[in-house]
Amino acid sequence: MKTIRSVRFMQRVSRQLATSGKKIGLVPTMGYLHDGHLSLIKRALKQCDIVITTIFVNPTQFAPHEDLDAYPRDERKDLAKIKETGGQIVFIPKADDIYQPDFQTYVLVEKLTKTLEGEARPTHFRGVTTVVAKLFNICRPDISVFGMKDFQQAVVLKQMARDLNYPIKMIVAPTVREKDGLAMSSRNKYFNESQRQEALCLYRALKTAREMVRAGMTKTTKIRREMRSVVQATCPTAKIDYIAFTDSKTLQPVSDVTVQKTVCSLAVWVHNVRLIDNLKLS
Ligand code: PAJ
Repeated sequence: MKTIRSVRFMQRVSRQLATSGKKIGLVPTMGYLHDGHLSLIKRALKQCDIVITTIFVNPTQFAPHEDLDAYPRDERKDLAKIKETGGQIVFIPKADDIYQPDFQTYVLVEKLTKTLEGEARPTHFRGVTTVVAKLFNICRPDISVFGMKDFQQAVVLKQMARDLNYPIKMIVAPTVREKDGLAMSSRNKYFNESQRQEALCLYRALKTAREMVRAGMTKTTKIRREMRSVVQATCPTAKIDYIAFTDSKTLQPVSDVTVQKTVCSLAVWVHNVRLIDNLKLS
């Protein structure tokens, strides 16, 4: 396994790989890897000769009050996990190599970034699309794999790839969960054991929604009300940012889940950590 830290060298390597006919897969991450991330690498390996995993805690997607400095990092463990999974290249650029001092060009997906996460974090997606566009330009992948865990991010990035004519197949892989249903997330490390139990409030609420839909209740106002009480019962101090029912492609709100393909997503503050999760309902 090769670790590359320079943008220029990464560009040279990917150009060589492309000219020698290798199929390149890209898995962008911010590190502190768990089995969710590794599942994306495995997915990419199925379809590619070489998988490039990137580790970069991208400053432009964090607002000044967010957890950029506190974001967990463990490069040594990450490298061991990628190697064990079979990833061949790890790209770990420095922030000032990605963003030169006079940096001033951003990529913005307009409509899809206005709702859900974009409402709570207005500058977040501009940072995500900008860094992923840069990683596409540097690594020249044939395919790139993203997680359903960040459902809106995947939809936004697919739109960007289409709008900017990137010749890249965009794959969205399922959310990997702990045995009890908690979606794996680097931010789970902030919790002690009892807080971690309370973090289950998101998945429990989503399961309730799915059960209600299966039982024939399809009006989202009713489902939302029930989900709110499940969240509060599991984590009494939880602050719900949003519980949304949206069309899986346009991200527009849906009032009845049977009408369109609906994804229910929610963002909840659990002991000062903002968690997100989602589930397809129809
Ligand atoms: P990060 O949060 O590290 O996630 C990297 C990738 O792993 C994303 O595509 C995310 O959706 C996926 N992922 C996270 N948890 C997952 C889980 N439990 N199951 C399956 N996939 C999971 O998302 C980012 O980094 C950044 O915004 C990035 C795209 C790298 C741009 O900076």
